[in-house]
Amino acid sequence: MTSIGSDIDHAVKLLTSGEIIGLPTETVYGLAGNAFNSSAVAKIFKAKQRPFFDPLIVHTGGLEQIDDFVSTVPDKAMELAKSFWPGPLTLLLPKKSIVPDLVTSGLTNVAIRVPNHPTAQNLLKKLTFPLAAPSANPFGYISPTTAQHVLDQLGQEVSYVLDGGMCKVGLESTIVGFEKETPIIYRLGGITLDAIQDVIGKVEVTIHSSSNPAAPGQLKRHYSPRKKLVLGDINHLIDQYKGHKIGILSFDKNYDSIPSQYQFILSPSGDMHEAAQNLFSTLRALDTLPVDIIIASLLPSQGLGLAINDRLKRAAAE
Ligand code: TXA
Ligand code: MG
Repeated sequence: MTSIGSDIDHAVKLLTSGEIIGLPTETVYGLAGNAFNSSAVAKIFKAKQRPFFDPLIVHTGGLEQIDDFVSTVPDKAMELAKSFWPGPLTLLLPKKSIVPDLVTSGLTNVAIRVPNHPTAQNLLKKLTFPLAAPSANPFGYISPTTAQHVLDQLGQEVSYVLDGGMCKVGLESTIVGFEKETPIIYRLGGITLDAIQDVIGKVEVTIHSSSNPAAPGQLKRHYSPRKKLVLGDINHLIDQYKGHKIGILSFDKNYDSIPSQYQFILSPSGDMHEAAQNLFSTLRALDTLPVDIIIASLLPSQGLGLAINDRLKRAAAE
């Protein structure tokens, strides 16, 4: 039986004995295990049905801990870490051999992040090892933003989910790597492109691709509901799908022709943070309603809107 609770010592006991648990972070919930223990890491891949070519992020309590498992830190990486940790930023840095190859899918860089969540921080302080944790959803499905989401989908796979409430950011971390010393954003996320460029200047954003070895997990179809999701102008789509049972995911507007229980507004006041926080739970809710199709509009392409649109496009990809 899986339980949800706030017993950090119980979580420490499970993790120390090589088990995996549901972990709250400010971005989304993770499925966490001892990053230095290959058998714990293998359990994570199995529970998520995640392909071994898609590496995991390692979570640690603070910048001072990364020397244990990272060999060098470029200056710009250090500036970013100092500006945004703890927070929704992941850095790709050269790993030391203590990090099992399974964690990095054989790559020489390890992805590292310091989560900004009190429960995660308290837990990491009590552990003698960092935590490998992907988002706690079955591979390809919508990321979880509450403990209940984790229980609903991975309850068979974990015995304990630490409850840290609803995730405040609601989008995964922004991933930044370096080619030589040049920074590249591999995934847009909770820290905006503008915020990063304010610290280190111009940064390139790579076009995602499942064949790009530097960002193996950036698959085109991801974060997807089981139902068909179509993006575009909502009024236009309502006409186009006349006769279907339509669910709506809108940024800030209400549509009178659709029953209110079948439409969700991410942020009535047009606030991007609120929209990001609600995005995944709203997609989940729509996925369980008796509708045949979900229609959604993209947000303005600025700030967190860029990351939200990235998730929507992947969720809608065939
Ligand atoms: O906010 C987050 O980042 C959440 C929370 C739980 O921390 N985690 C998360 O993990 O989103 P996941 O596994 O769902 O996504 C991690 C992404 C994948 O696209 C993966 O390919 C990429 O990070 N990644 C991990 N390690 C990498 C590495 N060594 N090199 C390149 N990409 C890496
Ligand atoms: Mg994920």
